[in-house]
This record gives sequence, structure tokens and C-alpha cells, in this order.
Amino acid sequence: MTEVPSGQKNAFVQAIKRRQRHLWPWARRHGIEAFRLYDADQGDIPIELDVYGNYLHVCEIEREDTGSALYGPQWRFIMTDIAARTLGVPGERAVTKLRPRRRGGEAADDSLLPSGSIQTWIHEAGLQFRINLTDYLDTGLFLHHRITRGMVADLSMNRNVLNLFCYSGSFSVYAAAGGALSTTSVDLSGNYLRWARENMEANGAIGGMHTYVQQDAMQFLREQKNTGTRYDLIICDPPTFSNSRSMESVFDLKRDHPQLITACLSLLSTNGQLLFSSNTSGFRLRTRDTPRAVNLTNQTIPEDFARSRPHQLWMFDMASSGIKRKPPGDSASSRHGKSVARPRSRNRRPRRQ
Ligand SMILES: C[S@@+](CC[C@H](N)C(=O)[O-])C[C@H]1O[C@@H](n2cnc3c(N)ncnc32)[C@H](O)[C@@H]1O
Repeated sequence: MTEVPSGQKNAFVQAIKRRQRHLWPWARRHGIEAFRLYDADQGDIPIELDVYGNYLHVCEIEREDTGSALYGPQWRFIMTDIAARTLGVPGERAVTKLRPRRRGGEAADDSLLPSGSIQTWIHEAGLQFRINLTDYLDTGLFLHHRITRGMVADLSMNRNVLNLFCYSGSFSVYAAAGGALSTTSVDLSGNYLRWARENMEANGAIGGMHTYVQQDAMQFLREQKNTGTRYDLIICDPPTFSNSRSMESVFDLKRDHPQLITACLSLLSTNGQLLFSSNTSGFRLRTRDTPRAVNLTNQTIPEDFARSRPHQLWMFDMASSGIKRKPPGDSASSRHGKSVARPRSRNRRPRRQ
């Protein structure tokens, strides 16, 4: 059995207790059930510890330099046990994983769910999301985008919303809750699209105005451009790399994001907005429209991620930025054909269809 030095055990317990004292009241005050409690913030304890209601999700982070685990499975199990005991969570509700550095990126994952998976539902802003703690590296809800999701709800009233790289559809759920006229959720993975639909339906977002498209996002954008369809709000949160047999070429965010952003902008209505996000470390925005982009990163890093910089976020606003786009593409030629109201509501419950 790997020995964990008592100094390291104590440091972990103390750090958890400190963060618990700070974050528990904050989470309760804001009705947040899922949050990051410990964020690899002690050099020799490379752990991300997330609370999902009555469950814990504990990841050892691979080393940046070697791309391998500093400690290994036994250390992870001991540290997970320490976290569970410190927080009073039964051991069987604490899940342990190794989080690899994203060398190969997050290719669409269509693997079948193995048996014995641990799943639960988490509430956020009056909405609910299915969480899968065991079958994938990620759980179904990116906790660092909690504020961004609220922003999407605020921007969605009476608007046609496109959610690219939608994963389990959390942005679409917020868009529907914020009063979107329509949502279009695009992902390469059929499994994730089914998850997105399940989350939408669990929140009452049912009906023909909510569509799910299994396709490469770049290909989708190219095809949509020719149809004259326009969107009032586009959320584009791509992976670092993407490669699949169904794609024409490998997607590399650092190389391909200018093209991706241009394609998104060309689908926006006259008053449309693009929220473009990246969680790629060292990512630098490089596009002809960069001066037009408003950097919203600082406003969208939540309290539980204050010590890290898990994402960067920009808004491209057709109305205020002076972004010029070629005719004829504006909302007048939109397939949806509806005028755009400015957003008003905040985290309203979605209407029952
Ligand atoms: C970083 S996650 C997106 C997270 C999501 N925006 C959220 O906050 O919940 C990456 C997603 O992109 C999907 N994906 C990867 N390559 C893709 C591609 N070429 N076209 C469409 N979706 C892709 C994956 O299946 C995965 O669901």
C-alpha cells in the first residue's frame, strides 16, 4: 500500500476544511449544488475535488511536464477516502479518476455506458441536469461555466439560439429557460445529443422548436450559410482538438478558430451575438474581428474557480461592435423570420410546451 506522508494528509484535510468554511455558505446562499471545492491549489496535491450534491468527484491531474500521474491509483484512493471522511460523505459516493492532460483533445465520445455507473440529478438555478460520475472523464456539467450559462439565459428571450459543440446541452437548457424561440444543439456524438435531449426534456423544453443535429460543427456552419438561416445567439465552446472518421479534416482550435468564428459571425442576425469560449491553456484569440470582441472572462469565472483560469470567453456583438457582414444575410432572410427582442429574463423556468 502506498504511504501518503502524514504532512500531506494533514495539508489536504486542512485545505478542504478551509475551502468548506468559505464555499459551503456561498453555495447554499446561491442555491448551488455542484461546485469545485479544491482546485489543485497546493503544489504537491494535484487534485480537483468537485461536490455534486451528495457525491464527490475526485481527479488526480496528470503532470504537465511528463504527462503521467505524479502519484497513481493507490494515492488517489487514499486521498479520496480522506476527502470523503473530512466531508462526511459515504465512501461509495466518492468517485476517483485520473485526469489526463488534453494531448489528444476531447474527441467525440460515443462509447457505450459500462454497467454499474453512478448517476444523479443536480439542480442549478431552478433547472436540473443529469450527472454521470463514472462513465466518462467529464460529468455532464462544466462547473466553471455556471455564470456563462446564466448569461445565455439572459440573452435568450425571444431569440433563435444555436449551441455548437453542445455536449449534454446545458447551454440549450438555459436558453430554453430564458425564453428562446428555438434552440439548435449540434454535436458530433449521438450519445451526448441524447443526453442533451434528456436534459432539455427534464426541464420541460419539449417540441419541434428544439432540434438536435449530429454533425461536425464546421460542416453544419458551411451548410447553414447556404440555407439563409440566421441565429440571434450562437454559443461556440469547442474542444482543443477534434478528430473523427465523420469529419473531413482534423479540427485544431489554435489553428482553426479564426475560420470557425468567421463562419459563426456569418450566421448571426443583424442584432446577433456570438459567445465564443475556450478552455485550452495558452489559447490566444487570433481573428480579423478580435478588436470587436469583448473579453468576458473575468466576469464569468465563478467564485469556486477564482484561483484558476478554466476558460476564456468573448462576446462578438453585431449590434454594438460595428461588425460588417455581407448582404443578404440578416434576420430579414432568416428561416425563423422572427424579430429579435433584447433579452430580459433571468433563469426563468422553461415554458411547458
Ligand atoms: C468542451 S465540450 C463542450 C462543452 C459544452 N459547450 C458545455 O459547456 O456543456 C466538447 C463537445 O464537442 C463535441 N465535439 C467534438 N468535436 C466536434 C465536432 N467536430 N463537431 C461537433 N461537436 C464536436 C464533443 O462530442 C463534446 O460534446
